[in-house]
Amino acid sequence: MNKAKPMMSNRTLTLQVNGQPQTLEVPSGQILLETLREALDLVGARNSCGIGMCGTCTVLVDGMAISSCLTLTAQVEGKHITTIEGLSQNGQLHPVQQAYIDHGAFQCAYCTPGLILSTVALLNEHVNPDDATVREYLAGNLCRCGSYVNILNAVRACHTIND
Ligand code: FES
Ligand code: FES
Repeated sequence: MNKAKPMMSNRTLTLQVNGQPQTLEVPSGQILLETLREALDLVGARNSCGIGMCGTCTVLVDGMAISSCLTLTAQVEGKHITTIEGLSQNGQLHPVQQAYIDHGAFQCAYCTPGLILSTVALLNEHVNPDDATVREYLAGNLCRCGSYVNILNAVRACHTIND
């Protein structure tokens, strides 16, 4: 006997994404990662593990780094969402983006959007984090290319941004 698939209803939500209001029809239960990638074409957040272990789907919600693969879109209605696409301003890279470039803090760059956003969140919380704090804070963002030394150097360079 064929089992009927459960009907997925839609909800109308207004999200604040990269400073712009976005009103969308979103399937109930949709995760933020899918909404960003599929409805808004913001593909800088990437789907890898899908279980909160790798950090490639990291975005900022009210300045805090979260895993968009574990977050329902409905949970962030009315909050300010920042993706990597929204970090530069007026054509100027964010200082953390520039520091990652200056220090060659990536190889394939698959992890880089998530790491940069986690670094921004780190610096929102800690003005001059020591190395142990940086390592602990970024531990949820994995880099399969092993660019960790240069990532740490990039984050150290960002300290001067806040000085
Ligand atoms: S895809 Fe979200 S943490 Fe890995
Ligand atoms: S630079 Fe390739 S996964 Fe980090």
